[in-house]
Amino acid sequence: MDFEKSQTKINLARSFAGECQAGARYQFIAQKAMEEGKINIQDIMKTLAKQEMAHAKIYWDLISKNCKEVQKNIEIKAGYPFEDTDLLQMIKFASNNEKSENTTIYPSFSKIAEDEGFKEIAEKFKLVALVEHDHFMLLDELYNKLKARSLFKSSVPFEWKCGKCGHTFYGKEGFEICPLCDATKDYISLDMMMFEKIK
Ligand SMILES: [Fe+2]
Ligand SMILES: [Fe+2]
Repeated sequence: MDFEKSQTKINLARSFAGECQAGARYQFIAQKAMEEGKINIQDIMKTLAKQEMAHAKIYWDLISKNCKEVQKNIEIKAGYPFEDTDLLQMIKFASNNEKSENTTIYPSFSKIAEDEGFKEIAEKFKLVALVEHDHFMLLDELYNKLKARSLFKSSVPFEWKCGKCGHTFYGKEGFEICPLCDATKDYISLDMMMFEKIK
């Protein structure tokens, strides 16, 4: 199959555009979180934004690598998921998008690439889908905990870490004010591993 005429080329271009949008949206969410003083959510969203841009670069490079001629423009038809609401709903929206990427979009793009004979690209779609699965789990858990107002509550004692000074605080509930540097709980570090442990 000639890559230039393949559906896979279009799918890579769509994926590139989608990842750029996700990268931008996550930076906007990070900004909103910062405006609300939620430093730990800002940090999470900045990290995810960087990872989405890394995905965009993977797709960008795959297009360049597989095209014989330099591409000046690739036409695509795609939606532009748009939701500008409050922080909680934007996190929910992001989690839904991550879910559709890892359960529907990328698996289907991978299958098409496989059928068209582009093994390396098929594999990359699969690997990115695994990351989007982790993103979904993180955002979904973040949304649920924020909604239930239980972001800093754990059923078992846990080592909460202050993201500002590094102080660790042991207990079933995160600190209100860091005993070492006086940071608020909005500085308590958040990550996926933590969500797995505090359930
Ligand atoms: Fe991504
Ligand atoms: Fe993602």
